[in-house]
Amino acid sequence: MPLVATKELFQKALKGRYAIGAFNVNDMEIIQGIMAGAVEERSPVILQFSAGARKYARHEYLIKLVEAAVATCDLPIVLHLDHGEDFDICKACVDGGFTSVMIDGSKHPFEENIALTRKVVDYARPRGVAVEAELGKLAGVEDNVSVNEKDAVFTNPRQAAEFVERTGCDSLAVAIGTSHGAYKFKGEPRLDFERLTEIQDCLPGFPLVLHGASSVPRDLVEFCNKYGGRIMGSRGVPEEMISRAAKMNVCKVNIDTDIRLAITGSIRKCFAEDPSNFDPRLYLGPARDAIRDVVKRKIRVLGCSGKA
Ligand code: G3H
Ligand code: 13P
Ligand code: ZN
Repeated sequence: MPLVATKELFQKALKGRYAIGAFNVNDMEIIQGIMAGAVEERSPVILQFSAGARKYARHEYLIKLVEAAVATCDLPIVLHLDHGEDFDICKACVDGGFTSVMIDGSKHPFEENIALTRKVVDYARPRGVAVEAELGKLAGVEDNVSVNEKDAVFTNPRQAAEFVERTGCDSLAVAIGTSHGAYKFKGEPRLDFERLTEIQDCLPGFPLVLHGASSVPRDLVEFCNKYGGRIMGSRGVPEEMISRAAKMNVCKVNIDTDIRLAITGSIRKCFAEDPSNFDPRLYLGPARDAIRDVVKRKIRVLGCSGKA
C-alpha cells in the first residue's frame, strides 16, 4: 500500500472514537520498532520526522527507511513532518514525498501564524499533502529549546475556529496542558478537558492533535534509573487521560519521549549486564524490541488496534 494522507484516516478515527499514534523516528531501529508494534496491532501509523531528525539522519536516508516500511507491510502509513518552523522546510517535505506536514507557527502572534499557515496550505493542498497547524503554546523542550510553564498559552476555542476557517488547515494541534519531554507536571497531572470540549464544539467534526502526549510510564523510568540513569521527578500524561482524549475529537497523538525512554533503559541494561559486549546489534536489537512494546501499548491506549 502506498503512503496515505491523513484525511480519510482522521475521518474514520473521528467516527470510531479512537486516535492514531504519531511516533517520532530518528533512525532505523526506531522505525523498525514502531512498524513491528503497528503490524502486531494491525494499526494505521503516522511516522513523523522533526527538523532535528532530518538533520541527524538526513532526509534521503529517512525517506528510504520509510520506503522499506511501506514495502514490507500492508498498513496505512502517513509520512509527516513534525514541527516545521517555516515555509521552506514544509516545502522541502511536500516536494520530498511527505504526505503530511506540520507548520508550527505557535510562537508567532495570531495574525502571523495565520499568514504563515495559509501560505503552507496554499502550497501543500494542490499537491495532495495535508497540513497540521498549531494554536496555543505548549510548555516543555522541543529541539533543545525550552518553553517555561509560565509562557505556555492554552488554546482559545473561538480563536481556534477563526484560525481554521482563515487558514484552511486540515488539523489543529491544541494546547490543553500537555507538554514536550519527560517533565510535564509539577504536581498532579491535569488536562483541561473542559477547554477541549469547547474547542470541539467550536470546530465540529474537525481533527485535533495532541502533542506532548507521552505517558512517561514509571516502569520505563525505573528501568533507566536501575541501570545507572538519573531521570528524577519525571511525570507524563496518565494513560486514562490519553484514552479519554482519543475518544473525543483528538485524532492524532504524538509520542517521542516514551520511545526515548524505552531505548535508553534497554541499552543501559545491556551495557550493565554484559560490559564485555561490543556488538551494537546485541544492544540495538533489544532496544528495538522495547520500542515495539511501547508502541503496542500506546496503540491499545489510543483504541487503534485492528483499525488498519
Ligand atoms: O516535539 C518534539 C519532538 O519530541 C521531537 O524532538 O526536535 O529533539 O527531534 P526533536
Ligand atoms: P512527547 O515529548 O510527550 O513524547 O511529545 C512528542 C511530540 O509532541 C512530538 O511532536
Ligand atoms: Zn510536538
